[in-house]
Order: sequence, then C-alpha cells, then structure tokens
Amino acid sequence: MTRLTFLIVVLGMLVASGAKAASGSYPLKEANVDLGDEASLYRGAQTFMDSCSTCHSASMMRFGRIGKDLGLSDEQLAELMPTETTKPGDTIESHMPAGYAKNTFGIVPPDLTLVARVQGADWLYTYLTTFYADPDAPWGVNNAAFPGVGMPHVLAAEQGLLQPVYETHGEGENTRQELVDLKAPERPGTMSQEAFERKMHDLTAFMVYMAEPAALLRMHYGPYVLVFLFIFSVLMYLVKKEYWRDIKH
Ligand code: HEC
Repeated sequence: MTRLTFLIVVLGMLVASGAKAASGSYPLKEANVDLGDEASLYRGAQTFMDSCSTCHSASMMRFGRIGKDLGLSDEQLAELMPTETTKPGDTIESHMPAGYAKNTFGIVPPDLTLVARVQGADWLYTYLTTFYADPDAPWGVNNAAFPGVGMPHVLAAEQGLLQPVYETHGEGENTRQELVDLKAPERPGTMSQEAFERKMHDLTAFMVYMAEPAALLRMHYGPYVLVFLFIFSVLMYLVKKEYWRDIKH
C-alpha cells in the first residue's frame, strides 16, 4: 500500500512538472557534459578567456589549477593566460571597472566561478544557445532561459540572431505572447548552428568543471577506488573464511 501511495505521489509530481513546462517556461536543453573529455574542457576554457572574461571574472579559479587538472603543457597554459605577466597562481579577473559596467549594462556582470552549480548545466547550456532577436529589448536581444536578460549576445557574429516564434494566449487585455520556438537566423553567422552548439557545449563543460573542480578528481580516482574496494572485499572474504574455519556451525 505504501508503495502504491509513493508511486501515485511520484506520478503526480511528474505530471505537475510537465504541466509547468508546457505553460510558460521554455524547455531546457540537455547539456550532456562529459568531464572526462579534457580536450573539450580546454576548448571551453579558451572560449571563456576569449569571449567572457572581458566582462566576467571567475575569481575562485586559478590558472595553475586548470593547467594541472586538464594536464596542459606550459604552452597550452600560456595560451589561456591573458598577458605575459600572468602567473599560474593568478585567478581569472575581468578588468572592466565596476562603475563602467554599471553605467553600460545597469548591472555589474556577476562572477561566473559557481554559476554552473547555482543554475545547473542544462540551464547554462540553454542560456548560451538561446539568445534571440527582440527589438524591444535594450540590446536588441532576449533570452529563452533568462527573459529580460541584461547581457548582450556577445557571440551573435558566430551564431547569427535566432528568430523567435510566439504563440498568442488569452483575449483582450489579457493577451500575452509566449515564446514557443526559435528559428534559424535571417542572416547566418560565421558558424553553422551545429558547430556553434558544440562550442557552447565545450564552454558549458568547462564552466561545470570550474564550479566544482573536485568532480574531475573524483572521475580520475573513481576507478582506482572501485578496484581497491573489490580487492579489499576479496581479502576480507578470505579473512572471514580463515576465522570461521575451525568453528563448528
Ligand atoms: C559585454 C559584457 C559581457 C560579456 C562579454 C559576457 N557577458 Fe555574461 N553577462 C553580462 C551582464 C551585464 C550580465 C547580467 C545580466 C542580467 O543580470 O540581466 C551577464 C550575465 C551572465 C550570466 C547570468 C548569470 C546569472 O546567474 O545571473 C551568465 C551565465 C553569463 N553572463 C555567462 C557569460 C558567458 C559564458 C560569456 C562568454 C561567452 C559571457 N557571459 C560574456 C555581460 C557580459
């Protein structure tokens, strides 16, 4: 009986969450991050340094740690660092003065070290791939995951500007437009949508790693721990047999 109640509750929750996605919020895309793919993480780190660190800091992330965790050569690490005087112990800092940022964007771009953990990988990936044209917005763009976003579409040249498809709901004064889909840009960007999405996938993966570098260590050590546990169990089994051998039971 309890099991049945549990099942009903779970089903109820599933139905409720499905209903919510249908009535309003744009569905999130799956990020499918693979923290074992170091080449992907490195490409993501390059994109982060090239396209994001002008405005955003990641002040809990040190260059040296990235180099060590991703197994980078000195040259690869040097390529990530913004200047020749950057040291491995330095963290990722934006050099945009806060006052200037506030004047330009109305808000200081937040530190991004932990954003993947706060918002989730799927949200982040959806955010990065769903900027779309909205002539009424301050930067001429809006975002499916973050309606009313104050960040310009900094990669518009590469992705082009996706076109929104709206559905109208309600009547008279209650009419509201709901974003239901995004169409290919009228003027294509320099990258195909697939290539752009791969690039954002790599960037998301890097940001997931950055939000919890220890996850990478767990991935590295996980298999060794399993092997150890297996050998340990076998040993303990043999010990048990030895102890019980002389006991009649
Ligand atoms: C031109 C400056 C600028 C650049 C470059 C930029 N951003 Fe932003 N970003 C902003 C601003 C401003 C906000 C705040 C938007 C708001 O709160 O409305 C923001 C917000 C965000 C947020 C939302 C954080 C949150 O939880 O509120 C994420 C995630 C983000 N940016 C990621 C990125 C990534 C990844 C890149 C590199 C591809 C990037 N940004 C490049 C200015 C920038």
